[in-house]
Amino acid sequence: MTSNGLTSPAVTATGVPRPGGAGLLAGHTVSRVGYGAMQLERLRGDRAAAVSLLRRAIGLGVDHLDTAEFYGHGFVNEVIREAVEPGDGVVVVTKVGAEPDAQGPVPLRLAQRPEQLRAGVENNLRTLGTDRLAVVNVRRADIGPGLRAAGDQAVDLDDQLAVMTAMRDEGKIGAIGLSNVTLDDLHRALPAGIVCVQNAYSLVSRGDEDMLRLCAAEGIAWVPYFPLGSAFPGLPKVTDEPAVQAAARALGSTPAQVGLAWLLHHAPNVLLIPGTADTGHLEANIAVGALGLDEATLTELDAVPSRSLDLPLG
Ligand SMILES: NC(=O)c1ccc[n+]([C@@H]2O[C@H](COP(=O)([O-])OP(=O)(O)OC[C@H]3O[C@@H](n4cnc5c(N)ncnc54)[C@H](OP(=O)(O)O)[C@@H]3O)[C@@H](O)[C@H]2O)c1
Repeated sequence: MTSNGLTSPAVTATGVPRPGGAGLLAGHTVSRVGYGAMQLERLRGDRAAAVSLLRRAIGLGVDHLDTAEFYGHGFVNEVIREAVEPGDGVVVVTKVGAEPDAQGPVPLRLAQRPEQLRAGVENNLRTLGTDRLAVVNVRRADIGPGLRAAGDQAVDLDDQLAVMTAMRDEGKIGAIGLSNVTLDDLHRALPAGIVCVQNAYSLVSRGDEDMLRLCAAEGIAWVPYFPLGSAFPGLPKVTDEPAVQAAARALGSTPAQVGLAWLLHHAPNVLLIPGTADTGHLEANIAVGALGLDEATLTELDAVPSRSLDLPLG
């Protein structure tokens, strides 16, 4: 607390210095280093370990979590429900646009129609155990990586925004974000009041530079998914890049840390949500908030070629 009794933006609700400093998300101050919870699916057989990993993240100053009801068919949301305490001041961001599909070639299928987005919000409310979701991203599927919308799943963005704004008016969701969108989609959606964009983006895949700049100009958080290139084989990995490895050697850090630190330096509206099921990696990722990159290193990293992520997954 500050001397006037207000909470300082430099620390979390529990008084922990914010890793990466303070960022803004839907009007909330959050630490710029957050946590993407998708990898917790891998701890399905050890729920206590998943809860403990989240508690460790919060203890180190993470107060922005990214999730989805379809991560482990509710498992990840239930872990968040168990791990996060009211006084932690954690902002949980979830997404709709897909649903679990246990029998499918990948464990989820698209659920893009407006009534499916509404059902997705209800499922998130139930599994997170709340009556209001702080931020919900509409996960579109017109572009890769991942599943592509076709047939009745190819839904007009305006129809999706209509149901999302209705749910915001009803108080079920606090704010609307977009995921996996084009620059044109973002321009169309701006009047609805978009608070964050979550696209696949990293040091080695920087196809959305124009959209990142538009977000910065509009006060919209840029929350890259696959910030390290993901766990999926075939997608370009930040840690494989020779310039990243060289910078890591020079700094005495790891290549993953250099890739994440580059994102924090790249634009002030970047919020990180790296995913991990490993506590050591979690601690290393949170430590990047203190990793400085000098101008020469940034110039080397900025020169790394950008590669396409427009690939099917699974
Ligand atoms: N909107 C969307 O469509 C969408 C799609 C995918 C993901 N997401 C969100 O974005 C988050 C991040 O994406 P992601 O988890 O798929 O990919 P990512 O963060 O780019 O990479 C995760 C991979 O990197 C490894 N890793 C993490 N920290 C590391 C470190 N310090 N050193 C070495 N390896 C490390 C992890 O393995 P270990 O577990 O062994 O550390 C895992 O294999 C997700 O968790 C999810 O919340 C959103």
